[in-house]
Amino acid sequence: MVEQSLQFPVKIDLKFPLPDGRMLVQGPLTYNTDGLATQHNCEFIKDPRFAAAYAFGMTDGPAGRHLEWRVHMAIWVAVQAAQLEGDFIECGVNTGIVSGAVMTYLDFAKRADRTYYLLDTFAGIPEEQITDSERKLGVAGMNAKYQGGDSLFAMVQRKFARWPNAKLIRGRVPDTLAEVSAQQFAFASIDMNVVEPEIAAAEWLWPKLSPGGFVLLDDYGWAPHIHQKRAWDVFAKQKGIEILSLPTGQGLWMKPR
Ligand SMILES: C[S@@+](CC[C@H](N)C(=O)[O-])C[C@H]1O[C@@H](n2cnc3c(N)ncnc32)[C@H](O)[C@@H]1O
Repeated sequence: MVEQSLQFPVKIDLKFPLPDGRMLVQGPLTYNTDGLATQHNCEFIKDPRFAAAYAFGMTDGPAGRHLEWRVHMAIWVAVQAAQLEGDFIECGVNTGIVSGAVMTYLDFAKRADRTYYLLDTFAGIPEEQITDSERKLGVAGMNAKYQGGDSLFAMVQRKFARWPNAKLIRGRVPDTLAEVSAQQFAFASIDMNVVEPEIAAAEWLWPKLSPGGFVLLDDYGWAPHIHQKRAWDVFAKQKGIEILSLPTGQGLWMKPR
């Protein structure tokens, strides 16, 4: 019998060449989830203030999913927006991961002069808003996980009850935008997974956004949501703005000052 001894640690130097000549990002990876693999520093995950905000955002959210970098982006944008005049709004709340984290991080109850509007059908994307092209990319198929109805709404009511300045509005965007009384916004998170209500919300928001106000798009870079990207790019061109593509799949734009 031949004995083999391994020296530890074993150095494994694997390279994964891609067809176009580049190399797949090599380890050690610091982050490898939610469509993003990188070697870059993500110490923010361990920051206690971030960790508490993220944990609250994930309460009652999808078990086993990791969206830390997306939430980090949202929090950073919200912190900048908090220096501007205006309310906050999210169109597409579901279990409230992003908004729950942002409100916790900003200690929103202490910001009594601002309201955070939270709009969702709590019953998924209205079928009539999904185009055939979006259907072909599986957008309708994703919808089942968002159709929580009364129990989802009750859960979100409980989750946001700690903030007297959180206003939940249940129903279909753009119809429900009429129930939003605010005239000025500093921050908007748009995450409805489908073109029609997102662009309608953007047109409604545009005149109400503060100079320098931010709009964060959750789906901008995700392959099944390419129609949203195309529509947002048309919107951006019409308004003379540029959308920042974030490596998390999000997009970010700012109303010019
Ligand atoms: C991906 S989820 C939002 C996730 C959320 N941003 C978070 O941080 O947890 C998309 C949500 O958009 C909602 N939605 C889609 N179309 C809508 C519409 N026209 N009006 C209101 N809500 C809509 C769905 O019901 C679903 O809950």
